[in-house]
Amino acid sequence: MVSRILLVILLLKLVASFDNEFIFHGFTDANLSLNGLAQITSSGLLMLTNNTKAGLGHAFHPELLHFKNSSNGEPLSFSTTFVFAMIPEYPDVCGHGLAFAVSPSKEFAGAMPSQHLGLFNTTDNGNSSNHIFAIELDTVMTVDFHDINDNHVGIDINNLISVNSSPVSYFDGKSGGSKSLKLISGDLMQVWIEYDGMDMQLDVTISPIDAPKPASPLLSSKVDLSSVFLDDMYVGFSASTGAATSHHYILGWSFSLNGDAQPLNLSKLPSLPYQESAKKKSHLLLTIALPLAAAGFLLIPIAAIFFVLRRRRKKYGEILEDWEHEYGPHRFSYKDLFKATKGFKEENLLGFGGFGRVYKGVLPSSSTQVAVKKISHESWQGMREFVAEIASMGRLRHRNLVQLLGYCRREGELLLVYEYMPNSSLDNFLFQGKQPALTWSQRFQIIKDVSSGLHYLHEGWEQVVIHRDIKASNVLIDAEFNGKLGDFGLARLHTRGTNPQTTHIVGTLGYLAPEISKTGKATTSSDVYAFGAFLLEVACGRRPIECHPSVEVPGLVEWVLGCWKTGTILEARDPVLGDEYVVKEMELVLTLGLLCSHPDPMARPSMRQVVQFLEGDAPLPPMSADALITSTSAQGYDECFDDFVISDLSTTDRTDRTFSSPFVPGGR
Ligand SMILES: *[C@@H]1O[C@H](CO)[C@@H](O)[C@H](O)[C@H]1NC(C)=O
Ligand SMILES: *[C@@H]1O[C@H](CO)[C@@H](O)[C@H](O)[C@H]1NC(C)=O
Ligand SMILES: *[C@@H]1O[C@H](CO)[C@@H](O)[C@H](O)[C@H]1NC(C)=O
Ligand SMILES: *[C@@H]1O[C@H](CO)[C@@H](O)[C@H](O)[C@H]1NC(C)=O
Ligand SMILES: *[C@@H]1O[C@H](CO)[C@@H](O)[C@H](O)[C@H]1NC(C)=O
Ligand SMILES: *[C@@H]1O[C@H](CO)[C@@H](O)[C@H](O)[C@H]1NC(C)=O
Repeated sequence: MVSRILLVILLLKLVASFDNEFIFHGFTDANLSLNGLAQITSSGLLMLTNNTKAGLGHAFHPELLHFKNSSNGEPLSFSTTFVFAMIPEYPDVCGHGLAFAVSPSKEFAGAMPSQHLGLFNTTDNGNSSNHIFAIELDTVMTVDFHDINDNHVGIDINNLISVNSSPVSYFDGKSGGSKSLKLISGDLMQVWIEYDGMDMQLDVTISPIDAPKPASPLLSSKVDLSSVFLDDMYVGFSASTGAATSHHYILGWSFSLNGDAQPLNLSKLPSLPYQESAKKKSHLLLTIALPLAAAGFLLIPIAAIFFVLRRRRKKYGEILEDWEHEYGPHRFSYKDLFKATKGFKEENLLGFGGFGRVYKGVLPSSSTQVAVKKISHESWQGMREFVAEIASMGRLRHRNLVQLLGYCRREGELLLVYEYMPNSSLDNFLFQGKQPALTWSQRFQIIKDVSSGLHYLHEGWEQVVIHRDIKASNVLIDAEFNGKLGDFGLARLHTRGTNPQTTHIVGTLGYLAPEISKTGKATTSSDVYAFGAFLLEVACGRRPIECHPSVEVPGLVEWVLGCWKTGTILEARDPVLGDEYVVKEMELVLTLGLLCSHPDPMARPSMRQVVQFLEGDAPLPPMSADALITSTSAQGYDECFDDFVISDLSTTDRTDRTFSSPFVPGGR
């Protein structure tokens, strides 16, 4: 009997010491080999990068693992799963991505950040002597590496040009359909990577943390790793940042050679910094409410009623202070919004705006369709002023502005209720291939719509409203394909509650006027600058800046300027349009786009003038033909850094940006 127990203990010990398998819930005791920006936080998170620009971080299991069958030299099967989160510094901008990697070294000497993901560099990318296998979670579209979009999973073998890749989505068992996921949403997601050495079958699966493992993988490929794997390899993670940054976190990791990786116990994972308080609260609710419910069930119905009331309060709880009563009709009850969106169910999710998730809803009282934007915000300083602004913006009415119907406030959360736009946002049509493709006359109409909406914000109301974040993704399309400007004034939310010593510039890379980084002040003419970038993106079907540093692709403005200079401005148009466009209108839009993007704010037209030009009520001023254009080759890279959102101006002594293109309209 005793010997049998001893034998069991011995066997257990053997199993435990079999180091081809490991599992970490948090990494405090993991003894990973770290380099670059990678660190283990005090709460046990593996943080691969912080907000350092153009940085990289590596974290690898410290010991070499034997990846080949010693009897026939074939690669062994392996299986791994991990939970990660990418938290971008600013919503909606790229940050660059992370990768699970199998590599002969854990140092990656010479590897580059940004689009190289800390795995390769410009000379060794694609070289088969790298012996690196990686699964990339890439949040930037790098044209040189044939990236399909800025949100994809790819299989990389010695090369950042993936052998197979797919936009991020998962198979949802409940609806039986595929649902897309956004890597930089900040949400927790789990990845499974499974390789069968016999069949050379590689499966990669991803899902949100709260969904079970999807039944079918996102990527499934035959991949021969026999010449990629050496006998002994390291396994771990690499992540990088570029001009835009993210915190890349790994919360838990399980790995097994020649067997199935043990499932992670999600309740044992450490929490992300911003989640901490929310999590604690739900625990508290459980510890108090559950026993109460039990008591109520067994003993006193009154306790049950108390519990129900309590739950309802919790479920529908909102913050309503005295000063808010004056906003009367603009204030929605959380209960109504909760019901309207079926409890903010996933199936009602319309998308991710710059500020949070947007849900479709139907107001129970009036059956009106609405879009509800859920914005989480930790800091509530200045909320009173902000709500006052929102409420007054609710009075802004123009057919080319998305109507704000009202708001609701909860702890840590602000909900904004807008009219519902059935055709979602313009960028889906321009850049994501949403059908039907927009014709030129539709595009030209949308341009006129947006100019009219922006003109109203600048001049048509009792006070000047600066939009601050004009771009295709903030232009919504209604059922008749009219364009409406959304999210106006919201950019100020970012400036609230921050340290008053620092100035927080808000906007989006590629649309930020150069003077903003100097003065930190948004003005109507910085809106005009962004509108110029918007004109060009609609006409050219290209984003104003594709964030792939070191690739010498000029920014959109430089490129169109180049075409203008050589008298071939029409060449800049979106190739998708073919010959289906009106020459005069196209020329007008492209040239006006350049005029609005003038580096000197004084040289830009006002929105009133822009509307006149577009309506044909006034001719465009002639451009001086001998204007010199010097588009520096480094522009693509520099612009990513120079025009990027800068959060602390007090420490940044900046000189004027080197946009040396004296593109001057005649007569000035
Ligand atoms: C990122 O972490 C490094 C150390 O790992 C530190 O030196 C740097 O200041 C941090 N950067 C930011 C922006 O937090
Ligand atoms: C941690 O890993 C290093 C190798 O990187 C090794 O030398 C050391 O013994 C390990 N420590 C523990 C406690 O396993
Ligand atoms: C290694 O290869 C031999 C011969 O093909 C096979 O019988 C054995 O199962 C393999 N071992 C593992 C661990 O896959
Ligand atoms: C690229 O990385 C290799 C190591 O893999 C290194 O030897 C080489 O110097 C690096 N090249 C550049 C341009 O950094
Ligand atoms: C690949 O790398 C090896 C070792 O660094 C080098 O000798 C070889 O020339 C490289 N091959 C190519 C095609 O660059
Ligand atoms: C997961 O961890 C929790 C907390 O440590 C524990 O209570 C639970 O039994 C675990 N679940 C499984 C399936 O191991």
